[in-house]
Amino acid sequence: MSSKLVLKDDLLNHFPEILDHVSDAVFIFDHEARILWLNKGVCDTLNIPRDVFIGKTQQQLVDEGHIRGSVVYSAIRQRKEVSGIVNTRAGIEAMTRCSPIFDSQGNLVFVVCTSTDIKELNDLRVTLEKEQRQSKNYLRELEYLRKILLLNEDFIFDSTQMKSLLEDIMKLAPFDYTVLITGESGVGKEVIAKTIHTNSTRKNEPFIPVCIPAIPPNLLESELFGYEGGTFTGSLREGKTGLLEIAQGGTLFLDEIGDIPLDIQVKILRAIETNEIRKVGSTKTVKLNLRIIAATNKPLDQLIKNRTFRKDLYYRLSVVPIHIKPLRDRPEDILPLCHRFLQEINKKYTLNKTISKEALDVMKQYSWPGNIRELKHSVERLTALSNGDLIIPDDVKKIFKYPSVGDPENQPAVTESPIKEFEAMEKDKILNALKQANGNKKKAAELLGMTRTKFYRRLERYS
Ligand SMILES: Nc1ncnc2c1ncn2[C@@H]1O[C@H](COP(=O)(O)OP(=O)(O)O)[C@@H](O)[C@H]1O
Ligand SMILES: [Mg+2]
Repeated sequence: MSSKLVLKDDLLNHFPEILDHVSDAVFIFDHEARILWLNKGVCDTLNIPRDVFIGKTQQQLVDEGHIRGSVVYSAIRQRKEVSGIVNTRAGIEAMTRCSPIFDSQGNLVFVVCTSTDIKELNDLRVTLEKEQRQSKNYLRELEYLRKILLLNEDFIFDSTQMKSLLEDIMKLAPFDYTVLITGESGVGKEVIAKTIHTNSTRKNEPFIPVCIPAIPPNLLESELFGYEGGTFTGSLREGKTGLLEIAQGGTLFLDEIGDIPLDIQVKILRAIETNEIRKVGSTKTVKLNLRIIAATNKPLDQLIKNRTFRKDLYYRLSVVPIHIKPLRDRPEDILPLCHRFLQEINKKYTLNKTISKEALDVMKQYSWPGNIRELKHSVERLTALSNGDLIIPDDVKKIFKYPSVGDPENQPAVTESPIKEFEAMEKDKILNALKQANGNKKKAAELLGMTRTKFYRRLERYS
């Protein structure tokens, strides 16, 4: 117990010395703001001996130009702790906190002040602000890159037509407007619809593509709108959620909208107008929150004339109409698309095929009735059938049978029966290789770069 007392006494004796080691400035004022004591930190910072301060009032320090600003007078006046900024002649900005101390009768006897140099804090604030600005920029850049990356991944193009179409898409994507995408089969309508979705605020919600002709007409209504349990024979007891409801929050892509029967057209129109649907066999309505994108390769104006497509639905759907040009009208896209498809195939089959410039020129002459889908399949066929690593014009001509743009007589056989054509060529190659290898199957397989099993299977099929 006594040792504790000794320690306490010691502590009290050493207080001034201890306070001298505090890095902040410590002042003790009397009730009239006269300095009774101050620690070494103050004297060192201001480079003034301690005696000069003792007995001076805060006001005198201000008058003599040692400091600017005062907090202690406010603390005395307000009889409570007050904080503020005090500047020194040496340019230090100090956060100063003054606390009045009262005796048992409530008289103010001392004011204790601590002062901290806030240069470090200020520097930190500046750094933080700079970093916040920077991270905002990074975020913006990331968002931009993400867009570009999304496009690079799914979407290849080089033509100015596609560039300007994509610029439009980026602009319209964030709005919830219904979009109608028209264009021939295989031009990339679905890819564009997906791109709109991934660049919209709904990007983290579902993107539900619905290919209308793929659903039997008698099931279309219940597939789209769902049905209540036990509605008809063969229906699920628990009922079914329709595709419109599945797309809730996200985007519903109605592909081949031109094939939709008139009675369902009415229901879709009503769903868009009221943002509500009713399941088959139900009296309750379900609120909808989704964006609709529709696509067609049919001339809707013709369908409207023939009265197989409703005009009012057409207007509802085509708030923003987008037309994607066929590949033959943007031949600049053929090269980058070919490269991308080749890259994918090379990677998948560990090949090293490239295509010559001359072969590409031949491809550009072709009319591409099946557009990008056809181009993709053609590249697959080319890599399968070309002999060396380099695809040359002869390889291309073999596939397309010397087509010329705009000459219907010269339309390639490939669009009529691609499988037969392919098989005929493959058979040719197999038999040729066998001849070259003098009937040695193992060698023939090697010549073609095929595994032996694959070669045997083909040989069996063609002989
Ligand atoms: N710009 C493009 N870049 C890369 N692939 C594309 C591009 N446009 C379309 N494709 C591919 O071509 C095929 C057909 O595209 P899709 O969107 O289904 O056409 P559509 O709906 O018009 O028939 C798909 O395999 C798709 O991935
Ligand atoms: Mg499609």
